[in-house]
Amino acid sequence: CLLLLLFFPFPPGCAIIRPPRDGGIRYRGLTQEQILPVDYEIEYICRGNRVIVGPKVRKCLPNGTWTDMMQASRCCKSSLVSFFLSFFLSPLQTDLVCHAGFILEGRNISHCTKLGKWDAPKPTCLCECLRIYQLYIGALFPMSGGWPGGQACMPSAQMALDLVNNRSDILPDYELELIHYDSMCDPGEATKLLYDLLYTEPIKIVLMPGCSGVSTLVAEAARMWNLIVLSYGSSSPALSNRQRFPTFFRTHPSATLHNPTRVQLFKKWKWTRIATIQQTTEVFTSTLDDLEQRVKEAGIEISVRQSFLTDPAVAVKNLKRQDARIIVGLFYETEARKVFCEVFKEKLYGKKHVWFLIGWYADNWFKIKDPAINCTVENMTEAVEGHVTTEIVMLNPETVRGVSNMTSQEFLAALMSRLGGKNPEETGGFQEAPLAYDAVWALALALNKTVAPLKAKGRRLEDFNYNNHDITSEIYRALNTSSFEGVSGQVVFDAQGSRMAMTLIEQLQGGSYKKIGYYDTSYLDSDARPQISRLRTHCPTCVKSVGAAHAL
Ligand SMILES: *[C@@H]1O[C@H](CO)[C@@H](O)[C@H](O)[C@H]1NC(C)=O
Ligand SMILES: *[C@@H]1O[C@H](CO)[C@@H](O)[C@H](O)[C@H]1NC(C)=O
Ligand SMILES: *[C@@H]1O[C@H](CO)[C@@H](O)[C@H](O)[C@H]1NC(C)=O
Ligand SMILES: *[C@@H]1O[C@H](CO)[C@@H](O)[C@H](O)[C@H]1NC(C)=O
Ligand SMILES: *[C@@H]1O[C@H](CO)[C@@H](O)[C@H](O)[C@H]1NC(C)=O
Ligand SMILES: *[C@@H]1O[C@H](CO)[C@@H](O)[C@H](O)[C@H]1NC(C)=O
Ligand SMILES: *[C@@H]1O[C@H](CO)[C@@H](O)[C@H](O)[C@H]1NC(C)=O
Ligand SMILES: *[C@@H]1O[C@H](CO)[C@@H](O)[C@H](O)[C@H]1NC(C)=O
Repeated sequence: CLLLLLFFPFPPGCAIIRPPRDGGIRYRGLTQEQILPVDYEIEYICRGNRVIVGPKVRKCLPNGTWTDMMQASRCCKSSLVSFFLSFFLSPLQTDLVCHAGFILEGRNISHCTKLGKWDAPKPTCLCECLRIYQLYIGALFPMSGGWPGGQACMPSAQMALDLVNNRSDILPDYELELIHYDSMCDPGEATKLLYDLLYTEPIKIVLMPGCSGVSTLVAEAARMWNLIVLSYGSSSPALSNRQRFPTFFRTHPSATLHNPTRVQLFKKWKWTRIATIQQTTEVFTSTLDDLEQRVKEAGIEISVRQSFLTDPAVAVKNLKRQDARIIVGLFYETEARKVFCEVFKEKLYGKKHVWFLIGWYADNWFKIKDPAINCTVENMTEAVEGHVTTEIVMLNPETVRGVSNMTSQEFLAALMSRLGGKNPEETGGFQEAPLAYDAVWALALALNKTVAPLKAKGRRLEDFNYNNHDITSEIYRALNTSSFEGVSGQVVFDAQGSRMAMTLIEQLQGGSYKKIGYYDTSYLDSDARPQISRLRTHCPTCVKSVGAAHAL
């Protein structure tokens, strides 16, 4: 037996080939064989209302290849023919046309015969099938868990993908396709899904995770597979680390994005000593580490740094004792109420103090009944008056048609219709959906940008595999130099691959938030555009800040 194997190591015949996308193979008689005999014929079949374009049947040749291998077989959508009855020209003739993107096969004109029949057989419409190669994006969308952002981000990404695929000026030879799983915002679950993405066909050209924990896992592993990772929803400052995450990009800014804005305001109001109070959580700790670095560069000192786990009473007392005036507070909304109840008790508010908080709390957060605190709504309203918030702008406030020819308002309307009447308030990731949309555009534009340089090197995007570093570095270079107008604003990445974006500055005046300015960090750190100060406190919709100037 061994001897026989040695003499006939390769049985004459052909190896099984893969069916076209959206299609299958009909095997006559045999099914399980891995090697099919000479003269054996396979036939392609297409799913749905698709028809085969290219060879429909292939035969195994004696030299172990199949017939017509140079010609691809594709399953193309066919559509109904529209009859445009041109009664005005001639009542007995009809011109046959196809929907855009489809080509007509058969005669395009038909005459009505005396027998009451059309004289030409009904033609079919075939899609042009110009996009030959599929490029796959492996995505993880959390549909549940700590941040169920996939609920809105997935339809949003899908919408971008449909538009990109329909554009003849972006990747005309390719079609992008999303292969996605629900990570449940859980790194454990994501480990399993990452394995599936990497070890099952087809090859993915990029990975798109959401949730900081999941992105950390994916971005750390991806380098081994020469994969670029592009996240649409991760704010952890820890991800801004090119040593640990060399191929990571995100359209969601890092939580540290607030800091340049804060520093700019300190400088504007000429404050040189500030204090901080934080809830002890990784994201706030690393944000304050970053702030410490930045204020130092600006010649500003952090004189007091306080932190608390759950009860802020002692920390607030310490701030009072050290006579803190300008205070940056980083904590979640529930803790914010506890802090300001203590602030009220310690009288750490009023004209001599300015608080800087995060802008993503509910608008009426200080009025919400909370059994954990002892202050009345009146007491709270008194304590929070005049504080300043910074918030990352995720929806372009300007009415401009960006690269996708959609304004942010049109984008929202289109997303709402995709969500089919679901309440945005109850749809996870609705706020971040513009970032998922812009992530797909950033990717498509970057891939489009690689086509020419790759061609010059004799490479093509479809050659990508996990051992291939050249194509990865070309995509990296293209993403690194991204700069386009998206529905979330200007899309630019910093040297760590994090999104730079605009921040909105608001102040609580008379119990409600008033816009006092915008700050655009996407214009910082960029060599092409020197440090233009983009602090706009005189925008038409902004009101003057009150109180802040009295703080010293
Ligand atoms: C196999 O044979 C066919 C026709 O006989 C020929 O066109 C094809 O190039 C051959 N392939 C290889 C790999 O030799
Ligand atoms: C029908 O086909 C002819 C040539 O094949 C072409 O000149 C004509 O424009 C076509 N008409 C329509 C309506 O597509
Ligand atoms: C795709 O593009 C064609 C023309 O370029 C347009 O008629 C069609 O509406 C587009 N489809 C979508 C889904 O945008
Ligand atoms: C895509 O790349 C081509 C060149 O390869 C370029 O002409 C085209 O403008 C690019 N499309 C966009 C939308 O930038
Ligand atoms: C609320 O206030 C009362 C009296 O001022 C005090 O005894 C009590 O401990 C306070 N409770 C909390 C939760 O602070
Ligand atoms: C807190 O508010 C209540 C009214 O809701 C008021 O009676 C009380 O005096 C306030 N406390 C202080 C210390 O001002
Ligand atoms: C952009 O959209 C507007 C309104 O939908 C349309 O009038 C315009 O032709 C579009 N421009 C391009 C270049 O597609
Ligand atoms: C990416 O851009 C940064 C500046 O934003 C630059 O320092 C870095 O060298 C670029 N990396 C590559 C690989 O081009």
